[in-house]
Amino acid sequence: MPDDALITVKPELAQGAKVDAARYRTMMAEALRDPEGFWREEAKRVAWMTPPTKIKNTSFTGDVSIKWFEDGVLNASVSCLDRHLESRGDQVAIIWEGDDPETDAKVTYRDLHERVCRLASAMKGLGVKKGDRVTLYLPMIVEAAVAMLACARLGAVHSVVFGGFSPDSLASRIEDCESTLLITADEGRRGGRKVPLKTNADEALKSCPTVQNVIVVRNTGGEVPMQAGRDHWYHELCAQASPQCEPEPMNAEDPLFILYTSGSTGKPKGVLHTTGGYLVWAGFTHELVFDYRPGEVFWCTADVGWVTGHTYIVYGPLANGATTLMFEGVPNWPGIDRCWQVVDKHQVNIFYTAPTAIRSLMREGEAPVRKWSRKSLRILGSVGEPINPEAWLWYYRTVGESRLPVVDTWWQTETGGILISPLPFAVDQKPGSATLPLPGVQPALVDNEGNILESATEGNLVILDSWPGQMRTVFRDHERFIQTYFSTFPGRYFTGDGARRDADGYYWITGRVDDVLNVSGHRMGTAEIESALVAHPKVAEAAVVGMPHALKGQGIYCYVTLKSGEEPTEALRKELVAWVRKEIGPIAAPDAIQWAPGLPKTRSGKIMRRILRKIAANETDSLGDTSTLADPTVVQDLISNRVG
Ligand code: PRX
Repeated sequence: MPDDALITVKPELAQGAKVDAARYRTMMAEALRDPEGFWREEAKRVAWMTPPTKIKNTSFTGDVSIKWFEDGVLNASVSCLDRHLESRGDQVAIIWEGDDPETDAKVTYRDLHERVCRLASAMKGLGVKKGDRVTLYLPMIVEAAVAMLACARLGAVHSVVFGGFSPDSLASRIEDCESTLLITADEGRRGGRKVPLKTNADEALKSCPTVQNVIVVRNTGGEVPMQAGRDHWYHELCAQASPQCEPEPMNAEDPLFILYTSGSTGKPKGVLHTTGGYLVWAGFTHELVFDYRPGEVFWCTADVGWVTGHTYIVYGPLANGATTLMFEGVPNWPGIDRCWQVVDKHQVNIFYTAPTAIRSLMREGEAPVRKWSRKSLRILGSVGEPINPEAWLWYYRTVGESRLPVVDTWWQTETGGILISPLPFAVDQKPGSATLPLPGVQPALVDNEGNILESATEGNLVILDSWPGQMRTVFRDHERFIQTYFSTFPGRYFTGDGARRDADGYYWITGRVDDVLNVSGHRMGTAEIESALVAHPKVAEAAVVGMPHALKGQGIYCYVTLKSGEEPTEALRKELVAWVRKEIGPIAAPDAIQWAPGLPKTRSGKIMRRILRKIAANETDSLGDTSTLADPTVVQDLISNRVG
């Protein structure tokens, strides 16, 4: 199949679709012509205490100010819970599938509402109030969603930290937002192994004086020390707490959550999302991109520690009254067919996962997929990194039996929800392309000078105007927000991604053009890994770049210069890999470490990463100009000692 082959919409499946091709065109035109009118209507999809009269007030220049629905008042938990009680109180809101295939649970909207209110009451009892920050460090258990919504109910700002992050990473995220409460669990479970969450949390809290209380979910029942006065068992608090808790009225622009994400420089930034615009965007995109229909089971395999989990496990599906599946485990345990077994078991209609998972399943062939019926499936989705056409086609043909639409959804932590993706019954698909923008999204490609490029071309991906789900600021660092996203191409939101646009106007995301890596769909800054490496007593200097990796998309390639007198041994190499795992978390473990007596630097001392990337990718015949290097001979040494 040629690179730009069209997979056309199947009319027999499109029956009853929310949006068909004609409707998509109308929506695109309307959102452009009259954004105020378009979003005034769409805002009605959430429950307002006071509906907004002011719709859009945004500027990408000067101090950059983004406000949507700014005089509206609402509480996100009401849209996700209370308003469903009458119409679907007994419908399952969350299907929980445990790591162990023998364990699962179903939580109705009524149960979920009560659990959220109880926890919110308990948190209130501990002094949590509107605007306070609460850090969640939890496994994929129902309590994670309960805790997010309980924060929302009180107007407290949640900051979810992925359970795979180290104590240090957790500590720096708590320190930055000065949380007063941490919610964690004794242990997590993943792929048959235990994750020592409470132990990690105790370690982290040694440097977090702002945290006054810790709520601990008894999950595995593993022994964990409890610190009197600070630590409280979740089940004990909730048993005593009131099952009623009035939702705090929130302005649309009051913060809903902070989520830390990696950039090209410095420590992770606290991406701040607010209440009204985010929730509208979560509901809008979840309904349109997945053509969500009442009663369907929606399964997003992400972890709630990432934005995908926030928007497409919790807020989007629950705002739409959906049944959302939350999976504690991993796609390949206990067997490589786990996903399809779960699809059949819970009759999943929409399945949303990452290319890295698809590639690892693809490696095992078709038999594990064919073993299960998968008849309930209607739509397949992909997110997190570019999906190579080969993986796209395998997903389409093997999982989707050449019948189901595949939506490749491009977006970012910063965008709150999906921006570029086919609507499954409105836009023909091309394997490997995120295709076209959603209504209200105006992407463009610019050259390095910021000139807008027309028609079929390749360039830096920018967004020309605001959409409701856009991040509002970096927590307590608006200057960094402006610098990171609006200074490279003034007046435009710069995504950090490069993209190609074909003659049909379809976008093909080519990957990051900055120093951010995407390893198995997890985003990581090279600077963070470098600072972890140089924190090791034997390391003098380090430079980290991405390298192509068949399964992970990108692998982590590290050039390390040791302090003089240190021996570059195999043992030290292993020690450094373990060191980075411990400093940041297992997801940051280097794939390759090359000993580098010297790094290629310009005369002013700047490391030329372009050259390091080429060597890591084994593209040494296209190194480009090396004449500006202070010492061009280091390059030859690096080439001859390439690892891999
Ligand atoms: O490079 C893009 C890649 O993931 C980055 C955003 O990472 P994060 O904020 O962690 O959010 C991931 C989940 C939304 C983007 O800048 N990315 C995400 N989705 C795609 C993608 N690259 C290509 N195709 C996608 N569908």
